[in-house]
Amino acid sequence: MAESLEQKIWDLLKEVRFPGMSRDIVSFGFVDRVAVDGGHVTVGLTISTQNPAAGEEVREAVERRLAEVPEVSAVAVELTVRRPAGPGEAAHQAVTQSPDLIPEVRSVVAVASGKGGVGKSTVAANLAISLAKAGQRVGILDADIYGPSMPMMFGITERPRVEDDRLVPFERHGVKVMSLGFILDVDTPVIWRGPMVMKAIEQMLGDVDWGPLDTMVVDLPPGTGDAQLTISQRVPLSGAVIVTTPQDIALIDARKGLAMFRKVNVPVFGIIENMSTFVCPHCGQTTNVFKRGGGERTAELLECEFLGRLPLDPAVVEGGDSGVPIVVADPEGPHATAFGRIAAAVIAEVARRQGSQSKLSIF
Ligand SMILES: Nc1ncnc2c1ncn2[C@@H]1O[C@H](COP(=O)(O)OP(=O)(O)O)[C@@H](O)[C@H]1O
Ligand SMILES: [Mg+2]
Repeated sequence: MAESLEQKIWDLLKEVRFPGMSRDIVSFGFVDRVAVDGGHVTVGLTISTQNPAAGEEVREAVERRLAEVPEVSAVAVELTVRRPAGPGEAAHQAVTQSPDLIPEVRSVVAVASGKGGVGKSTVAANLAISLAKAGQRVGILDADIYGPSMPMMFGITERPRVEDDRLVPFERHGVKVMSLGFILDVDTPVIWRGPMVMKAIEQMLGDVDWGPLDTMVVDLPPGTGDAQLTISQRVPLSGAVIVTTPQDIALIDARKGLAMFRKVNVPVFGIIENMSTFVCPHCGQTTNVFKRGGGERTAELLECEFLGRLPLDPAVVEGGDSGVPIVVADPEGPHATAFGRIAAAVIAEVARRQGSQSKLSIF
């Protein structure tokens, strides 16, 4: 009983938006806790804002919303308002602590997977290029702390320039590219701790001269760790796409990823099944290398869209290794067609969910 009321309250809190923002207070990470004791509900909020009045507005909105619940007899909101660093403090700190690190980016789409090696980075790169081909201004942020692969996928061997204290992203195939791989020393393994992940990702957002973008594609590390949480808390994610291969084991992991995004209230646009079928280049026969239809079944089971199936094709590996991704190398081929459709679906989903609302904030 208490548990289900608690769940209901979390769900209701997801309907409370931060003033002036299209996002809710749960997805911002502002809700620390919900405690239920009979009909008495306590909600702990920690809000980071320059505007204390916004904190009070949220408190009132939460009280109003929860007062409508018949099982709730009393609501206590414990509100802590933190001010991000202001003038006088280090400029850099002010940038990294401001919740809107990328004010000129209209939408951010994460590409995620339950486990590594399923083709997440391949999808991120080809999706970004396909969005650019559709006329969008696009950036790709390679936030895979375990295996940044955009330098190779985009054929970039240099290090980025610094201008006015900001990193200048590279531009390849119509996409602005920034990767942790440009900054890390490839030969030195990094043992990541939570705060380091947060800092690195914040820098890749706030300290990079992204300029105005319609869509930023983020290549997340596999799984559901610190990087996912940081991104989902620090960036107004428009949504995520999940890449999987058709085997059951990969699908189980994909489900976990999907559950995580739902928990932080980030919409999952859909599932992409990669390495589905193999078309023999010699005889033309189609082989289901793993299994057929796993991605579709998972999408159905989890009530999310199935965005498409990408065939297993050695040309994809070649494209990934040579800096000329498959949608550029073979612009009329089956991958380019599939990615064109996926890009159109992503654009439509973002537009549908954003409506007329802009991401401009009062922070
Ligand atoms: N559809 C595909 N057909 C053939 N090889 C693929 C396909 N998708 C990805 N690959 C290859 O599989 C390997 C892993 O892909 P990658 O995108 O790096 O996966 P992840 O980012 O999930 O670890 C790479 O060598 C890539 O070229
Ligand atoms: Mg990868």
